[in-house]
Amino acid sequence: MVDVTEEEMDNPTFKSDTVLSDVHLHCPNKRRLMVRLNAVGQPVFLSYFKLLWNTEGLASEKCVRESTTEREYQYRSGDELGDKGRKKLRKEKELNSEGVEALLDDDGDLEVVRRPRSASDVEAEDLLRDRVHPVILMKGREDAFEDEQECTCSDIVKIEHTMATPLEDVGKQVWRAAFLLADYILFKRDTFRCCSVLELGGGTGITSIIMGMVAKRVYCTDVGEDLLAMCEQNVVLNKHLMELGRGEVKVKKLDWLKEEFCTDPEALYSWSEEEIADLHEHCTVIMAADVFYDDGLTDALFRTLYRITHNLRNSCTVYLALEKRLNFTLRHMDVTCEAYSHFRNTLNDLENLQDRKIKYTVEPIKADFCQFLIYERIEQLELWKIIAEQLT
Ligand SMILES: C[S@@+](CC[C@H](N)C(=O)[O-])C[C@H]1O[C@@H](n2cnc3c(N)ncnc32)[C@H](O)[C@@H]1O
Repeated sequence: MVDVTEEEMDNPTFKSDTVLSDVHLHCPNKRRLMVRLNAVGQPVFLSYFKLLWNTEGLASEKCVRESTTEREYQYRSGDELGDKGRKKLRKEKELNSEGVEALLDDDGDLEVVRRPRSASDVEAEDLLRDRVHPVILMKGREDAFEDEQECTCSDIVKIEHTMATPLEDVGKQVWRAAFLLADYILFKRDTFRCCSVLELGGGTGITSIIMGMVAKRVYCTDVGEDLLAMCEQNVVLNKHLMELGRGEVKVKKLDWLKEEFCTDPEALYSWSEEEIADLHEHCTVIMAADVFYDDGLTDALFRTLYRITHNLRNSCTVYLALEKRLNFTLRHMDVTCEAYSHFRNTLNDLENLQDRKIKYTVEPIKADFCQFLIYERIEQLELWKIIAEQLT
């Protein structure tokens, strides 16, 4: 670990060529504490994500989805949703549904016409939105939090992550699709009970940790020692959640760009022959969240899926969660989603594959199941299921 000066801790710098996940942007200050700098000098934050077990009774009611966006949750959690609050919320929803208009000016530049800010907006914002800035807690200690009791209870997931990373480090943040997949796991937990699971591109490990609460064994895989160390730290931080269901999460290196598992005993996070055999013998679920943002990586991930499913003893179900990201491109002079189109084409190719060993069947899962985590379930979030059925 690097030596961290007081000044460095107090003045984390965010560069402009970095990306920041909405999950962290909207995470209230109270739940996000800066704890240290990691081995490459990035500020590490510890966030507390609350599991909303009490929404379950309302699972089939449409109101669950509508009532657990972060803003509303904060109204509710403070029991502040009086008449005035309700009116504000309604007004805000009306305004939101008007949306924003995207227009091109004479030169073809994109002009975004934003809805006017009304007085009620500003008031509501003051009431609801925490300003985004880190709270610096303690150097080198990850486990200090104002309310110690919260640390080990069964409805808090603690995740160390960085914020505003360059693209090659996006796995060190938590992405919204990971929450969608986590919600689905908790909603369908009987389906996953006692399963052996493989996660590809697990990042901070949050989805594997949630899966570890119900499954028997989860291999949470990714690349980069730094990231894998952070992921392992998160598994340790949440051990008590997994112990309840006697599940375990093993953090392993799995690079989609390589043909083989890393078995070098000298390498950190490498696989033993027993672990590879265990995976092939028992794995029936593969999952991945927010891993389709680069066409080359999408192809590599599908090649990995193909290879692994062909080596499994049993049929297997693959769950892929993603957020469709829309971009305006000059080339198309329109809003497009190229990474998503490539994903859909590759998914189609997989389904149409003539293969004597495995039949792949693809189906979308409607994202209307109840929410256990607090985030905005935007319509761009999608969940796909692939059944890889062994034919022989
Ligand atoms: C956007 S992040 C998603 C992380 C996490 N699943 C989530 O949703 O919070 C994409 C993940 O894919 C991983 N990844 C990228 N290239 C990879 C490769 N060649 N092999 C394995 N994982 C890779 C990244 O390291 C990163 O963790």
